[in-house]
Amino acid sequence: RERMTTVKMPDANGHTMTMVKWQGEYFPPFPGTGPRMDKMKDLPMRDNDVLISSYPKSGTHWACEIARMLVSNKAENHHVEGLGKAPEYIDMSDQELVNSMKSPRVLFTHLPTKHLPKGVWEKKIKIIHLIRNPKDVAVSFFNFAQAFSVFEYEGNWDGFVTLQNSGHVPSGSWFRYMLDWWNSQKGNPNVLFITYEELSANDQKVVKKMAEFLNCTNTDEFYEEVGRKCSFHSMKKSREDAMKIFFRKGQVGDWKNWFTVAQNEEFDKLFQEQMKEAPDLIPRII
Ligand code: A3P
Repeated sequence: RERMTTVKMPDANGHTMTMVKWQGEYFPPFPGTGPRMDKMKDLPMRDNDVLISSYPKSGTHWACEIARMLVSNKAENHHVEGLGKAPEYIDMSDQELVNSMKSPRVLFTHLPTKHLPKGVWEKKIKIIHLIRNPKDVAVSFFNFAQAFSVFEYEGNWDGFVTLQNSGHVPSGSWFRYMLDWWNSQKGNPNVLFITYEELSANDQKVVKKMAEFLNCTNTDEFYEEVGRKCSFHSMKKSREDAMKIFFRKGQVGDWKNWFTVAQNEEFDKLFQEQMKEAPDLIPRII
């Protein structure tokens, strides 16, 4: 069996991003990824677990916060011990920690479908899958990679784009990831696909949709309170300093401030080529 290896992946300008590779997948360079992933298939799941799945930087923490409020029936912001200490991030946290969480649990993952715990499918766990415009994802990822020292990345935006387009980033190619999730799960009644953009445009409507999907409907006043407590500013304010790197700008379309005309054209071309395998997903990407 291939062990975990550390990779220093160079961008087009020679600046490297540090990651770990396990069974062909790239992960953030946290120690113990390989052994943890070897046990992932057997992670015990509970019937009332909720799983948020997304490509990194798609608004995962946002969707988790909403789901937690809905299932607990309490519009209270979540407390996290510190960076890298979220037990609900099943790809990175220890099984014992995940097992020690109280039900109902809201867990999250950036894994492709084939690496998820078996129990997710056996127990028909409800999954909320978050999609975000890949150009905004790239901008968010670039800023995150610069802010989070574990990546040891000192490249600039131009260099980063080459890494992102070629899938040499944690979680790999956005296209491959999306094609896997969409094409295998779009007809699954236990998977709800929502987009960052629809959540931004109409949080209450989407919050209600999430509540209906999770069988925990509530009053309109409650949805409104959840929307307020889960606003970008409310969430950022509630987090301690180390966690604030997950709350940068929280906007739709910031990519327009980053992509050059040439980078945009190149990306659009790549998008059209790669998304041929999921024509019905294209209209959902803004
Ligand atoms: P930006 O870097 O564009 O600001 P993840 O949680 O998957 O790491 O995603 C992080 C992205 O989601 C960041 O994007 C962050 O600002 C944004 N985000 C987090 N909470 C949000 C909220 N309540 N409303 C809007 N965007 C939010």
